[in-house]
Amino acid sequence: MADQGEQFGNRHIRGIYREGMYEGKRPSFPTSYEDLRAAAWEEMDGNARAYVHGGAGSEETFERNKDFSAWRIAPRMLQGVAERDLTVDLYGRTHEFPLMITPLGVQSLLHDEAELGTARACAELEVPFILSSLSSHTMEDVAEALGNVPKWFQFYWSNDRDVAESFLDRAEEAGYDAIVVTVDAPTLGFRERLIERGYYPFLEGEGVANYVADPAFRESLDVPPEEDMQAAVDHFLEIFGDASLTWEDLAFVHDHTDLPVIIKGILRPEDARLAIDHGADGISVSNHGGRQVDGSLSAIEALPAVVDEVDGEVPVFFDSGIRRGADVFKALAIGADTVFLGRPFAYGLAYDGARGVEAVLRNILADFDLTMGLAGCDSTAKIDRSTLKHESELGP
Ligand code: FNR
Repeated sequence: MADQGEQFGNRHIRGIYREGMYEGKRPSFPTSYEDLRAAAWEEMDGNARAYVHGGAGSEETFERNKDFSAWRIAPRMLQGVAERDLTVDLYGRTHEFPLMITPLGVQSLLHDEAELGTARACAELEVPFILSSLSSHTMEDVAEALGNVPKWFQFYWSNDRDVAESFLDRAEEAGYDAIVVTVDAPTLGFRERLIERGYYPFLEGEGVANYVADPAFRESLDVPPEEDMQAAVDHFLEIFGDASLTWEDLAFVHDHTDLPVIIKGILRPEDARLAIDHGADGISVSNHGGRQVDGSLSAIEALPAVVDEVDGEVPVFFDSGIRRGADVFKALAIGADTVFLGRPFAYGLAYDGARGVEAVLRNILADFDLTMGLAGCDSTAKIDRSTLKHESELGP
């Protein structure tokens, strides 16, 4: 096992304090999310900043996503928390942590190492990874970099069914453990930061590695992408996405994969029910990091009703707004089985490639581990609704 264990958090901060006090060394990596974002910002060009920040419209939802303060952790004392179990079991595999890297496209915009850098950090720490369809390296290469770490593939539907089917086949063949179908992006949101720059990375051939390597995609081109990349990009734009999809279309995914299928982007209990009725093996509560519907519910506001509706029938996942260990704890306490980490790892990658992602993961996992212990829980299984109070439950 990598550098993980019952006292992950203690080891991490003890090491930092020792280096600081005995060797006069400060951590070279920013600790707070706000400092990290500012440091990463310095390393990024205007297009990359606009792409990662990229909330829809006024960014009201993007901003509100980060506000978990209506939920307060209610710690219990003297619970015997010297040994803490951070693992969680999902679809027949044990994940070392209740946190995964969220699918986040076009990581080449952030750092030359792109998804391979993120994957190497995950392999080092045994943090499970979800690869976007829109990656800068192929799903096969990323799977290899991840080794035996749990890996899921996020599936964006092509309106060319042969390409869609080929993606599902390749993911299974490459060793991915689950398919994540993102349903909140039938089309792109109105992202003012990208629009004002007239910038859309796919038009310059970024983030299309899975397509240009795909046999079905290549078959539909007159000349191979190596000879005419612009034609390949134009074809990608023609087939990418399908806004005509309905719940019935999920049968296509189930018909073409034996892997568990998780539906990502659910905000309403009615949709969670429909997803389960259409065979979902997991529900992911997310608003795509505020990039799609400006003014929508924040993900943390949406989570309780979805958890109540799902009622343990399938695992529930959560993302959009996770910045610190306490956020992870709160999402798990409301009923998520695992959370997906987004912008913090993206800024770690932008700041220092694989090393930056590893540093972000070490900090947030240590923060979570310590929060869990201090709240009186010696395992993720003990983190339940009794460990939280909503502000509406607090007396005068
Ligand atoms: C995303 N997200 C995303 N989701 C997805 O299913 N496929 C994708 O390709 C992408 N690409 C992507 C790019 C960038 C730059 C961002 C910031 C986000 C959404 C992502 O998986 C997740 O839902 C959000 O990142 C969660 O919000 P926070 O916590 O990052 O603010």
